[in-house]
Amino acid sequence: MSPSSKRGPVERGGVPRSFDAHARTYDKLVAANPGYHEHLRMTVRRMGLPNRGAGLRLLDLGCGTGASTAALLDGAPDAQITGVDASAEMLAQARRKTWPTSVRFVHGNVENLAMNGIVGPYDGILAAYLVRNLVHRDAALRQFHRLLRPDAPIAVHEYSVRDSLRSRVVWTAVCWGVIIPMGKIRTGSADLYRYLWRSVLQFDGVGALTERMAAAGFDDLRVQTVPGWQQHIVHTFLGRRPATDEPARIALRSVDAPDVDPEAMTPPEGIDMPTGT
Ligand SMILES: C[S@@+](CC[C@H](N)C(=O)[O-])C[C@H]1O[C@@H](n2cnc3c(N)ncnc32)[C@H](O)[C@@H]1O
Repeated sequence: MSPSSKRGPVERGGVPRSFDAHARTYDKLVAANPGYHEHLRMTVRRMGLPNRGAGLRLLDLGCGTGASTAALLDGAPDAQITGVDASAEMLAQARRKTWPTSVRFVHGNVENLAMNGIVGPYDGILAAYLVRNLVHRDAALRQFHRLLRPDAPIAVHEYSVRDSLRSRVVWTAVCWGVIIPMGKIRTGSADLYRYLWRSVLQFDGVGALTERMAAAGFDDLRVQTVPGWQQHIVHTFLGRRPATDEPARIALRSVDAPDVDPEAMTPPEGIDMPTGT
């Protein structure tokens, strides 16, 4: 029996521990994923952070080895940026890189940020490939909402395939054809990559995640996909803490253009199945 099978399948609450075991190979694996870093930078640009981020305090929740932190830094080089992650090994990889003094990293669970000294207000939050892995997603999103200043943006950068049969088929083909075998070859264990496949299939569709963000209090919700094989698979879910305490509204719009424009809103081409199946 391999060490990974002895550990058993990865579960949501154990995700940071699993990342500890994969931290040394994480950067190489994501570098082999075309568009990974550019898509993160695209999401940061969509946040519309003004003035190179001068005077802003930004959070990168689930920062991992710092790929998303680097994207935030690229889009807002003059901001103060705090990356938070519960995996000590992923953070160790992040800290090994060269950062300006305006970037710092905090080890802790994003489901309990105050315990780790992360108190608002913040001027923007990026959560890349994080929300799917959280145990109490609604409570966590409400917490992120409370940490933001009124009118400040959140960008949830995440896989979401549940609303689209085509997206689910492409996702499954890429996972079993490339990601899982490559993960096994590079790390000796496919556990985390099988979890990735499964957790994405089980996670919210575009509609459900948008509604979840609205229920947490976010306003001005917009969803856009990215180009490449990840089109209609990876999305930027943008929201904003309302400027006042009015109830949140969903402003998800559809577009006429076919799925060639990554700046277009994600539906309707990605949607061909009802949600909640
Ligand atoms: C797929 S990685 C993404 C890393 C980075 N954001 C990126 O875009 O490359 C997900 C990260 O979220 C972290 N994570 C998962 N659940 C967490 C939690 N509850 N608190 C803090 N970090 C968490 C994991 O440890 C892992 O480093």
